[in-house]
Amino acid sequence: MILMKDILQEGNPVLRKRSVDVNLPLSNEDKIILTEMMDYIIKSQDPVMVEQFSLRPAVGLSAPQVNINNRLFAINTYDENGGKLYSLAVANPKILSASEEMTYLNGGEGCLSVDESRNGLVARSKRIKARVHLFNIDTGEETDVVLKLSGYVAIVFQHEYDHLQGILFVDKVKPVLPGIKPIVFSVDSEQ
Ligand code: NI
Repeated sequence: MILMKDILQEGNPVLRKRSVDVNLPLSNEDKIILTEMMDYIIKSQDPVMVEQFSLRPAVGLSAPQVNINNRLFAINTYDENGGKLYSLAVANPKILSASEEMTYLNGGEGCLSVDESRNGLVARSKRIKARVHLFNIDTGEETDVVLKLSGYVAIVFQHEYDHLQGILFVDKVKPVLPGIKPIVFSVDSEQ
């Protein structure tokens, strides 16, 4: 089980490397990394687990944050409409297009690899289209799909994607974002 002590913190050079594409189909090692990352996120959304294991709540986690420079990340969150659950174990993501229209999370972004006090506003494309290799943790199935994401889930995806480029959200924080309409969504979780 991944614990907060296993999550690299800002200043660690692994967080600044560009991660590499993994071989497909996924190796057992990469499947385990994806499964463990998803396990952390899901546990971190359970108040009992948070208390028991001192977890910081999260909606996304990327492999470099657990000291592995492979292009892998996991996301588990509802969209801002509260309707649809996006539970994605992703390998080798490629953003094909991103809208010029921007948005941001009204409460600011946060990250398990950055001190909690340093959340901040980051402009993100409101809509993205991305090619990904998805791993279904329950069935073991692997599929190549093109995802069209918007709003909150698109923001989370771009945050995790940045991790694979060696970019942290704090690199992009602005004090104000005039002229951009925010996504109003209050989840107390980080990426
Ligand atoms: Ni992060």
